[in-house]
Amino acid sequence: MLNGENTLSENIADNGGLRVSYRALEAYMWTHDEPQRLPHELCGFWRSEALKSQMESNPYSPANYWVNVPLYYLQSVHLRFKSVKDKLVLITGGGSGLGRALAIRFAKQGANVIVWDINKSGLNETVELVRAANPEVIVGSYECDITERHLVYETAAKVKRDVSAIDILVNNAGVVNGKNLMDIPDEKIIQTFQVNAISHFWTVKAVLPDMMAANSGHLVSIASAAGTTGLCQLTDYCASKFAAVGFEESLRYELINANKLGVKSTVVLPYVINTGMFAGFKSPILSALEPDYVADQIMAGVLTDAEYVAVPRIFYIINTLKTILPVKAFYKAYEVLGGYHWMEDFVGRERTNHNN
Ligand SMILES: NC(=O)c1ccc[n+]([C@@H]2O[C@H](COP(=O)([O-])OP(=O)(O)OC[C@H]3O[C@@H](n4cnc5c(N)ncnc54)[C@H](O)[C@@H]3O)[C@@H](O)[C@H]2O)c1
Repeated sequence: MLNGENTLSENIADNGGLRVSYRALEAYMWTHDEPQRLPHELCGFWRSEALKSQMESNPYSPANYWVNVPLYYLQSVHLRFKSVKDKLVLITGGGSGLGRALAIRFAKQGANVIVWDINKSGLNETVELVRAANPEVIVGSYECDITERHLVYETAAKVKRDVSAIDILVNNAGVVNGKNLMDIPDEKIIQTFQVNAISHFWTVKAVLPDMMAANSGHLVSIASAAGTTGLCQLTDYCASKFAAVGFEESLRYELINANKLGVKSTVVLPYVINTGMFAGFKSPILSALEPDYVADQIMAGVLTDAEYVAVPRIFYIINTLKTILPVKAFYKAYEVLGGYHWMEDFVGRERTNHNN
């Protein structure tokens, strides 16, 4: 019997050596709270990387459309995971919430992790958590206010001197005010844009030259479902997240145009998450998501080089409907779903002092 408590090799032994079926392996992987990467020797010819290199060597060939791509997507998502072992991952806003959950997951995949934040105690906690669970990986933290352009460049250079060039950048730090437009002080609007969108220009400019030179790397942008749909009391937040999505999409075209297909990018569009950032948000239909669930979905997207990761998946449909339904139909849906009241009791992180 397959047992989620045992190691993979113990399970294989229990199931009669390599006679363990593909389905059983999948079941094994899902019994763990985190997806696992299959050992290379078990995947053989069908390993995703063999197909992927064929796909990438001639991306627009008909053989790709009719053979390689269908074969690639018919595989289990876990078979498609790329390896991030020994890669250096930089996560902004890694001192709490989603950034911390991602740091833990990247380290579990064997990546070295650097976290940036303005919250020093949060950074220390993240480093301790990651180090305790993964003593073999390099983990470090740097206090860095990503709204300070020169500080971003200096700190990125320091990371390169201290550890190595960055292979994966996760632009995750974010802030929200949660007020109607006329109630948000001007400085707070500027800060929202600086943290949620403009900082992406500085962090990406700091790491991209090395990625372009190596034609390898990954840029991840944690935007939001609010980066494709406007909402009451979130003018600055939604606009900054739309900007982050637009930045990432445009950059992707630039990378393709420069024939740097080895530099991947992923934009993440999550719904409300229980990290404290959106404390007080009323979520009538979809319940707020758990950070661990969202982090697992992001990892699956990043490790399979997905361009977009909407969490939950219903947002792929909502975004499609938005482009085909009349605008007034959306107003009606917003009203019926109580959208005008979702942010009424918002308190957010600043006033909850919630740090998980
Ligand atoms: N929580 C949600 O409901 C939700 C939903 C969709 C998207 N997101 C996005 O996910 C990302 C992570 O959010 P979270 O829920 O983990 O929130 P969080 O508040 O737990 O984490 C954000 C982190 O960013 C850091 N930060 C803020 N300003 C900074 C600055 N100037 N320089 C460096 N670090 C700074 C904070 O100190 C904090 O540790 C954000 O971009 C957020 O917009 C969150």
